[in-house]
Amino acid sequence: MRSHYCGEITSENLDQEVTICGWIHKRRDHGGVIFIDVRDIKGICQAVINPDNAESFKIAETLRNEFVVKISGTIRARLEGTVNKNMTTGEVELEANNISILSKAVTPVFPLDDYQEVNEDVRLKNRVLDLRRPEMNQRIVVRSKISSLIRNYLDANGFHEIETPILTRATPEGARDFILPSRVQSGKFFALPQSPQLFKQLLMIGGLDKYYQIARCFRDEDLRADRQPEFTQIDIEASFIDQSYIMEIGEGMIKALIQEFCEDELGSFPIINWHDSMRDYGCDKPDLRIPLKLIEISELVKDEEFKVFAEPAKDINSRVVALKIPGGNSLSRGQIDDYTNFVSKLGAKGLAYIKVNDKNDIKNGLQSPILKFLKNETISSLISDLDLENDDLLFFGAGKKSVVNLSMSSLIKKIGEDLSLYQMKWAPCWVVNFPMFERNTDGDLTSLHHPFTLPDCSSSELKASPEKSLAHAYDVVLNGYEIGGGSLRVFDTEMQKTIFEILKITKEEAENKFGFLLKALSSGCPPHGGIAFGLDRIVMLVTDTTNIRDVIAFPKTQSATCLLTDAPSNVDKSQLDELKILSTHKEE
Ligand code: AMO
Ligand code: AMP
Repeated sequence: MRSHYCGEITSENLDQEVTICGWIHKRRDHGGVIFIDVRDIKGICQAVINPDNAESFKIAETLRNEFVVKISGTIRARLEGTVNKNMTTGEVELEANNISILSKAVTPVFPLDDYQEVNEDVRLKNRVLDLRRPEMNQRIVVRSKISSLIRNYLDANGFHEIETPILTRATPEGARDFILPSRVQSGKFFALPQSPQLFKQLLMIGGLDKYYQIARCFRDEDLRADRQPEFTQIDIEASFIDQSYIMEIGEGMIKALIQEFCEDELGSFPIINWHDSMRDYGCDKPDLRIPLKLIEISELVKDEEFKVFAEPAKDINSRVVALKIPGGNSLSRGQIDDYTNFVSKLGAKGLAYIKVNDKNDIKNGLQSPILKFLKNETISSLISDLDLENDDLLFFGAGKKSVVNLSMSSLIKKIGEDLSLYQMKWAPCWVVNFPMFERNTDGDLTSLHHPFTLPDCSSSELKASPEKSLAHAYDVVLNGYEIGGGSLRVFDTEMQKTIFEILKITKEEAENKFGFLLKALSSGCPPHGGIAFGLDRIVMLVTDTTNIRDVIAFPKTQSATCLLTDAPSNVDKSQLDELKILSTHKEE
C-alpha cells in the first residue's frame, strides 16, 4: 500500500515518486495551497496540494484531523525559509498528485496536533487515540524491543522459552488470587498465577535445565504507581547453579538493556545486606542516587526526658533516627509542615527537626521545637556525632520500626526528588541476605519472599530459630524501584516440610495445596534457583516515566478497572446459573 513510512522520508528521497499512508495530523490552508502533515508510527511528513491538481485539491479541502489517507506524489526540497531543522523530514515535502481517504474520523476527544496535558481517565477511556501520541507509540515500541533483546540474551545463554499454564492453582506470592470458576467441575475454581514459580521449579525437576518466560502474572493487591493487577515478568530459572550465576545473568541482562536503550554503561552493581539497607535507608529498595542516610540515635536519646524519643529508643521493636539534609536550613516553615504532613500520612506521629544556624552556639544558633526537651550534652553529641555544619537541617523519626522505616525512607525519596539531590543517572544494587521470615500484624511468621526459598542453614537450625535465619534470596533495585527478585530454592522434601510447619501450614493443607510439589521434590530434584524481573518497571525506567500505565498498551486504573472496555462487568444470570454461582452482591 505504501512505499515509505512518513517519518523516514529525507532529502535522500528527492525527486522520487513515493506513496505514504497515515493519519492527518494537521491541515493548513495557505492562500490557495493546502499543507497537510501526515503521521504514522515513524513520524510526520508534510504534503503539499496545489489547486492546479483540482481533484486532489477538492479532496484535501474535506480532510479533517485523524482521517486516514494514502497520498502519492514526488518528493521535493522545501522552499528556503520553510525548512524545519527539528524534524527528520523537515527539509523535504511531498508534492501530492493523488490523495485517497481510506477512513474518516470524528473530531478527536483531545487534540493530537497540539500537545496538551490530558486527564489520565480521559486518556484511558480513549486509549486508541492516546496510543497514537508519539510518546506513547514510542514507549510501546521500546517495550517490544526490550522483550526482543531479552529473548536474544537469554537464548544466547542457553535458556529455553517455555510456557506455563494460566488456568492453574494458587501460587503463594503474598497477594490475593484472582479466581475463575470451572463450569465442568462445578463448585471448583482455577486461580490465575501470581507468578510461574511452582511450574518453573517443576520444569527444573523435569530436567529442562534452563528456563525463561516473558510471563503474565496476576495479583489482586492494592495498586500503586508501579503496580498493576496484571503485569509481566521476565521469569528465569536454572539448575545446578549457585546464587552468583543467577546474579551474573540478571546483572548482565540489565547492563545490556541500559547500554542498548539508554547508551549508558553500568559498572558492577553494589551488593548490600538487607539488614544494612533497612538500617541506613529504612527500606529494602534504596534509591542510591540520593546521598542521604538514616542515622540511628536510639542509644544517644534513650535516657532523655523527652518521651517521644526515649520510649521508642528503649523498645526493641522501635527506633529513633536522624536524617541530615546538608544545606537544608533553607527549607521554609511551610515546606517543613508539608513534609510533616507527608510522613503523618504514612503513620508517623510527627517530624521533629533542628535547623543549624551556628553549630558553635547551642543556645541561640539552633532553631527547633524540641531543643527545650533535650539535654545540652545530647545536642552537643548530635552536632559532633553527625558532623553537623552550619545551614544543615536534621529531621527525626521516632516510633515503631515499621512506621519509622516506611515514613523516613519515603521522606528520603521525596526530599531527593524535591531538592534534585540525584548524584547519578543510574543507581542499581543487589540487596541480599534477607531474613527467611517476618512477623505479620497478627504475630504470625510469613515468608519474606515465598515458602520455596532456600535458607542458608540446616532444617534443624531453621526450626530452632526461624526468625534469625537468612535466605539465599536476592533483589535487584534500580533507582529505588525493585525491578527483580529471586532465590535459590528448597530442593529436598524435609526442608520444604519444615518451612510449611514454621508457616503453620498443616500436613493436610500442605498435601492438598502442594502435594504435587512435594511428590516432585522426592523424585530427584536438582539444586536450582532463579529470578523474576518486572518487565513493566524496567520499561518505565528505560522510557523515563514514573507511571506504569504509560508502558502498558491497555492498563488498569488504580481501582483495577479497564476504562476502555469497562471491565470487570456484570455477566448474564444464565452464565452464573451454568457455573452454579449465586451472587450475594446487592446493587447500591
Ligand atoms: P516477586 O514477587 O518479587 O517474585 O516479583 C518479581 C518482580 O515482579 C515485579 N512485580 C510487579 N510489577 C508490576 N506490578 C505488580 N503488581 C508487581 N508485582 C511484582 C517486581 C518484582 O521484583 N516468583 C518470584 C520470583 C522468583 O523467586 O524467581 C516472584 O514472583 O519488579
Ligand atoms: P509534641 O510533643 O507531640 O508536640 O512533639 C514535639 C515535636 O516532636 C514536634 O515537632 C513533633 O513534630 C515531633 N514529634 C512528635 N512525635 C514524633 C515522632 N514519633 N517522631 C518524630 N518526631 C515527632
